Amino acid sequence: MKIVITGGAGFIGSNLVRALTEQPQVSRLRVVDNLSTGDKANLAGLDVEFFEGDVQDAALLDRAFRGADAVVHLAALPSVPRSLRDPLASHHANATGTLQVLEAARRAGGPHVIAASSSSVYGANPHLPKHEDLASAPMSPYAVTKLTTEAYLSAYHHSFDLPVLPFRFFNVYGPGQRADHAYAAVIPKWISATLAGEPVTIHGDGTQTRDFTYVGTVCDVLTDALLHRVMDPRPVNLAFGSRISLLALIQEIESATGQLVDRENKAPRAGDVPHSQADSARLKALFPTVTPPPIQKGIAATVGWFRSAIERSAAR
Ligand SMILES: NC(=O)c1ccc[n+]([C@@H]2O[C@H](COP(=O)([O-])OP(=O)(O)OC[C@H]3O[C@@H](n4cnc5c(N)ncnc54)[C@H](O)[C@@H]3O)[C@@H](O)[C@H]2O)c1
Repeated sequence: MKIVITGGAGFIGSNLVRALTEQPQVSRLRVVDNLSTGDKANLAGLDVEFFEGDVQDAALLDRAFRGADAVVHLAALPSVPRSLRDPLASHHANATGTLQVLEAARRAGGPHVIAASSSSVYGANPHLPKHEDLASAPMSPYAVTKLTTEAYLSAYHHSFDLPVLPFRFFNVYGPGQRADHAYAAVIPKWISATLAGEPVTIHGDGTQTRDFTYVGTVCDVLTDALLHRVMDPRPVNLAFGSRISLLALIQEIESATGQLVDRENKAPRAGDVPHSQADSARLKALFPTVTPPPIQKGIAATVGWFRSAIERSAAR
């Protein structure tokens, strides 16, 4: 089986490449990535063909998609605050990029296309848990680009019979997630700050909740979807309905690091949703064998990865 992963040098993409190299059915892996937020070092030592460039480059996609059985489309500018600063950049990379990927898939004879959408599409809809059939109410340009991604997948399925599967990722965390940039996610940012003895910044009062999903579990679901050619034009939540507050997350980081976490509170951020929790019925019906680890285990593995990254950089 030949698989292309767009955004494969990023956090989720590189974890997926590693997971797929262990699958005997997978004979060839290709990555398309412009390295805007990803890093080629994430793929060091892995047997993968690398196509450096933008998913808006149709000729590059034609080369990468030749003979592919499946495409996992993860390339995107992944941040709500980034999309508030530069909505057009997010639109070009995420919405136009998805359209280019679908067009290239059509030209390549119609491989299975799995793509990453986001829980941010639920936005201002207050209903919990978030069921896929709820009305979407985007609160940021980023959320619009992800809704567009889903809508294009559905359209290409109905118009051109393309086999598709859009996933709504919730807050994914785990080894390999960067803490060292302005748009870093809360778990890497807070673990890294705690290990450095620095305070963590809480936007709002910390009672907001998130449904965190371990990256290994995301990779298990994506692998299962690829190997069993799971197709559905309707979006599928990729999270298990286990929401915790940011204050409870701090306690988990304290117990995994054995350190007290200093906190400073700042104003809530525009575009952030107050609560997030997936209804996972559709996910569990499609992937009954995938089980997530408890958050304690996932946080401990992530802390372990950060500690070894610190040791590696100290040894350099
Ligand atoms: N991490 C999460 O919690 C989360 C939540 C919801 C959705 N998602 C989605 O999952 C996908 C992967 O996210 P991630 O956390 O691994 O982010 P990431 O930033 O680590 O990975 C994204 C990758 O895409 C590449 N990329 C960006 N724009 C590109 C372009 N125009 N052409 C080619 N490559 C490009 C980047 O260089 C990077 O390697 C994204 O689509 C993101 O929107 C992630």
